[in-house]
Amino acid sequence: MINRLKKLSPQFRKILKSSSSLANSLGINIYLVGGVVRDLLLRKSVLDLDIVVEGDAILFAKKLADALKSDFSRHHSFGTATINFNGHKIDFATARTEKYSHRGVLPKVSPATLAKDLLRRDFTINAMAISLNKKDYGKLIDLYNGLEDLRGGLIRILHPLSFHDDPTRILRAIRFEQRFSFKIETNTFKLLKEALSQGYLELVGPHRLRDEIIIILKENNPAKYVKRIKKLVGFSFIDKTIKLDKTTFQLFKKIEQAILYYKKRFKKHPKLDTWLLSLAAILIKLSSQQLKRVFHDFGFRKRERDVVCSIKEGINKIKKLEKDIKASNVYIMLKPYSFESIIFFYAYYQSKGLRKNIEYFLQSLVNLQLKIKGRDLKAINLKPETLYGKVLRKTFHSKIDKGLVSKAQELEEAKRIFKRH
Ligand code: CTP
Repeated sequence: MINRLKKLSPQFRKILKSSSSLANSLGINIYLVGGVVRDLLLRKSVLDLDIVVEGDAILFAKKLADALKSDFSRHHSFGTATINFNGHKIDFATARTEKYSHRGVLPKVSPATLAKDLLRRDFTINAMAISLNKKDYGKLIDLYNGLEDLRGGLIRILHPLSFHDDPTRILRAIRFEQRFSFKIETNTFKLLKEALSQGYLELVGPHRLRDEIIIILKENNPAKYVKRIKKLVGFSFIDKTIKLDKTTFQLFKKIEQAILYYKKRFKKHPKLDTWLLSLAAILIKLSSQQLKRVFHDFGFRKRERDVVCSIKEGINKIKKLEKDIKASNVYIMLKPYSFESIIFFYAYYQSKGLRKNIEYFLQSLVNLQLKIKGRDLKAINLKPETLYGKVLRKTFHSKIDKGLVSKAQELEEAKRIFKRH
């Protein structure tokens, strides 16, 4: 595996070498584990590293952070620590076993050897390690035939109670199956179906399910994942009334195209949280009340809730944009919405008129501002000041409709509007 490690960025390689030297001087063993080993074997890019320490991971990470002069943070409840070295993130965890008392809740953990730590993991392809120890630096440690499954394209659990211990692995299995175009191994598939029929997924804390949903919707081509979840699991774990049909998947396609259009056409506008559009596509047919419950129960962030709820609330109103309406009305209608919502509307309605209005808004209106301010009205002695807000708003709409460009034109228009009041 030495050659594969050489494919890591120089920063990551430096961190691994420093970790290795530190472990050697402390007389403890450390290993690269989990997804990074899998991704190195698949020659995929690696964004962050997971290191398991046979010993106190927090202490180890602290010493390493001091040596590298990097940021350090610890998570006491998990016995883990993270260091951030020039934007490169490395997580450290003490090798551990996990005991599950109830399904779906986080387990009780106790220190263990690497072999036990690997055995507690979800799938064989995620249960390989690479030694970072002086004596066999770079050696692949594959105790559970992960490499064979990786080559055979199989998602296989490590022990029969895996889905029972952690039902989020049902969604993880689908995620890796779809991401790598692998197959869920026969026995694993049987146990996954059994876990589903016994309702294990409903027992998982909604916050953990939310995290899995977000990760899935952030994958490339989320529709593929959603289709597979619909087929194997259904979406009743989010809300009993969610029904996805052909139109949902057509909408996913349109969303994908609309996102591409936005990225290409509006390079200077903010990057979209594209996964929110997928979430909206799944939830759009729920009532506003059901939506609120989902966002509350699953503990989504306020912005996430606001974006999806505003799409729901705006989807019918926005239909007016199909007509040829005044430019200032285009502004008034679209300004309250996030870029995500606007691109959702663009995807949802295929009408030329509506799309032209959205394009015009994004191109010419969204960042438009008046050149004059309240103090400019004060300087020419307009009274009463209480009218300034209203007058400036109206002036702004005139600016849009009449194409006023200069400060002088705006001031003239403001004076005219003032007189009318
Ligand atoms: N893991 C597990 N069971 C879970 C979650 C994680 O066994 N429910 C283990 C797996 O060994 C996994 C590792 O923890 O490889 C890291 O978890 P995570 O970062 O969620 O997954 P990755 O495999 O790194 O996947 P991704 O590429 O999506 O980050």
